[in-house]
Amino acid sequence: MDASAAALIAARPALRADAMDGLLFEDVPLAAIAAAHGTPCWVYGAETLRRRFRRLRACMPSIAIHYAVKANDHLAILALLAEQGAGADVVSAGEFLRARAAGIPASRIVFSGVGKTGAEIALALEAGIGQINVESAEELCEISALAAARGLMARVALRANPDVDAGTHEKIATGRAGDKFGIPFADIAALYAEAARLPGILPVGLAVHIGSQVFGTAAFGAAYRKLADMVRHLRTAQLPIEMVDCGGGLGVPYEDQPETLPEAWAGAIEAAFAGLDLRLAIEPGRWLVAPAGILLASVIRTKRAGMARPILVLDAAMNDLVRPAMYGAWHGIVPVAAAALASPCEIVDIAGPVCESADMFGRGRSIAPLEEAALVAILDAGAYGAVMSSTYNARPMAAQVLVDQSMDLSIAGGSGFCAIRERQAVESMWSMERVPSAAGKLVLGA
Ligand code: LLP
Repeated sequence: MDASAAALIAARPALRADAMDGLLFEDVPLAAIAAAHGTPCWVYGAETLRRRFRRLRACMPSIAIHYAVKANDHLAILALLAEQGAGADVVSAGEFLRARAAGIPASRIVFSGVGKTGAEIALALEAGIGQINVESAEELCEISALAAARGLMARVALRANPDVDAGTHEKIATGRAGDKFGIPFADIAALYAEAARLPGILPVGLAVHIGSQVFGTAAFGAAYRKLADMVRHLRTAQLPIEMVDCGGGLGVPYEDQPETLPEAWAGAIEAAFAGLDLRLAIEPGRWLVAPAGILLASVIRTKRAGMARPILVLDAAMNDLVRPAMYGAWHGIVPVAAAALASPCEIVDIAGPVCESADMFGRGRSIAPLEEAALVAILDAGAYGAVMSSTYNARPMAAQVLVDQSMDLSIAGGSGFCAIRERQAVESMWSMERVPSAAGKLVLGA
């Protein structure tokens, strides 16, 4: 087998190459999933998700885990995590209602985000949300008014901007002064005191989130130590503070770079807050779900004539998985057929069909020559994949499939997998559009 494909597969417990059936995902042949549901198709592994949740739980037994719903908001994923005991971190009324619909109680939901509307805050308060992470003095005043008008007490944490560089991609760094997120660190103490005086507000603690796809513990540690110092400061000022929300951000080794283990993250949290008698919480998204998903695609054709390097054109595109186009993100790409996994490789570029030069899944990749309709798996696509999809170029939203060997066989038909979202019907892309009638000013088709 190609060394790079072999290494990518070996490093991912959900994947296995079978000499007959080709690439298996949680022991189900991906070819069988493609045959049943077509491509492009997202495939999620229930057991991988459960295993990762348990691993996090085991290394942080006393820390509340609020899954960051934005990473993958499918109801089936949320329900699986709810079953494992996860709470949720949400950033919109839509995410709040999704989390509730999946069975996560409002009391275990934290509302984050820099632009919560009054209507969203009211909805969350009336439903009994567990905590709101406040991102500005202005938002705090609005929550106070909305809660007081309803005779409710809003449990709030102030999200501090610690001015720490997480050392991640520019577009996903959130904890530097000048980023739009959080309250400037210098304002926290005064605002916390104010929160304690405002009607309808019960200040319970502090929150921080420095960015996503973070490696190492230095940046986490620097942010957490600042928060720990602030906890001491607030307590000296006789202000009650019972919890710290440490945010999310733990990175995933897409390119098999050295991993920062969740145990190390837990260690950074423990080290900063030891002895402070706080309730602690985290908001992980990517680390839980990225390796639990792949994007299954087919080769439309290989463009060779006159090309310096062959271009493998897939039926998946940036409208499905935008991460490579948006962040220059690297995702492993491996063939599915047993023969292709065993064949010598060529160096190719891998593209989608969308009319943007950015619609590239990889350049200079080593992969076996693939015929039309051959399948490939784009790895680690469970986080910020389907949730960021669009219908650009009038391409319908892809199907989504859950592999769950423990699933009721009557649901899965004995196959171990089932569709959790049908491929979008083409007509449904315009079913909500209205064409002004010929009686109006705009006469279409004239
Ligand atoms: N908490 C807050 C307040 C956040 O803003 C985020 C992510 C998380 C938790 C979860 O972070 P995670 O554990 O997943 O790193 N679309 C980008 C990632 C955007 C992350 C936004 N905030 C990507 O595909 O890389």
